[in-house]
Amino acid sequence: TTHAPSTPNPSLRKFAVIGNPVAHSRSPFIHQAFAAQTGMSLVYDRLCAPLDNFAGTVKHFFADGGVGLNVTVPFKEQAWQTAQDGLSERARVAGAVNTLWMQDGQLKGCNTDGIGLLNDLERQGQNLAGKRILLVGAGGAAKGVVLPLLETGCARLHVVNRTVEKATALQTAMTDAAPRYTASLSAGGLDSAEGHWDIIINATSSSIDDKAPALKGAHFAPNALGYDMFYATRPTAFMRWAKDAGAAQVCDGLGMLVGQAAVSFQIWNGVLPDVAPVLAALRAQLH
Ligand code: ATR
Repeated sequence: TTHAPSTPNPSLRKFAVIGNPVAHSRSPFIHQAFAAQTGMSLVYDRLCAPLDNFAGTVKHFFADGGVGLNVTVPFKEQAWQTAQDGLSERARVAGAVNTLWMQDGQLKGCNTDGIGLLNDLERQGQNLAGKRILLVGAGGAAKGVVLPLLETGCARLHVVNRTVEKATALQTAMTDAAPRYTASLSAGGLDSAEGHWDIIINATSSSIDDKAPALKGAHFAPNALGYDMFYATRPTAFMRWAKDAGAAQVCDGLGMLVGQAAVSFQIWNGVLPDVAPVLAALRAQLH
């Protein structure tokens, strides 16, 4: 016969992760595993958008019949702009979007990073109430988790960033949106990280270049956790730094990745998949 067995079924619903770079993204594996788990068939691609044409690439994807997009580095803030008229409350406050879809002809945007992070921390037995948290980074990844972290009842959340203006702007935006957290939220440069922290979270993209942010005077309290939102086949530069700096526990962001994907999957497909087996399969694959 002449038909090509690899021709994708055009009737399948089409999804993708959009970023730059995106070649190593595990999102296609995760979403296909969720689909298998819930008895669905779907297409999930990697979409590398040119740095100067994110909005155009998104528009084309949906015009072409695409159903949903996960947004990754460095486009989460641009995704927020692009979906300006269709933001969920959480995404609006965050200033960053990681999940896009079309509804009634309108582009919708949501941010599931915070739920993904909190679920992962909970899975690891972390109770954030009363804790002192240092969040490193003020880009799209950091923005998505600030309010969810504050909502845990942590004692203090200090946001530090290489470009200090971005950290203080984030602080101002958050305290405007949620004034009740004014006392527990602070911001500064990497040189303002001084102190003993129960959790230090790396939300920068520095691990892509295998570098750790140059934190000054940051120490881990007893039993503290070093958490890198990034993941790789081996411990990231931040994880190695945290271990050396005395963190009792270090981990990467693989659990957060699967957790945020599960909530995106639920938004698009109406079913919340089980994170644990997919995380275990992915972990085995990375080793
Ligand atoms: P993301 O979606 O991962 O947040 P982003 O919006 O491009 O991507 O933001 C990148 C973040 O990583 C920023 O906080 C950036 O700091 P600047 O605002 O000063 O640029 C941070 N970052 C990237 N490389 C870094 C490095 N080597 N050291 C410290 N911070 C770094």
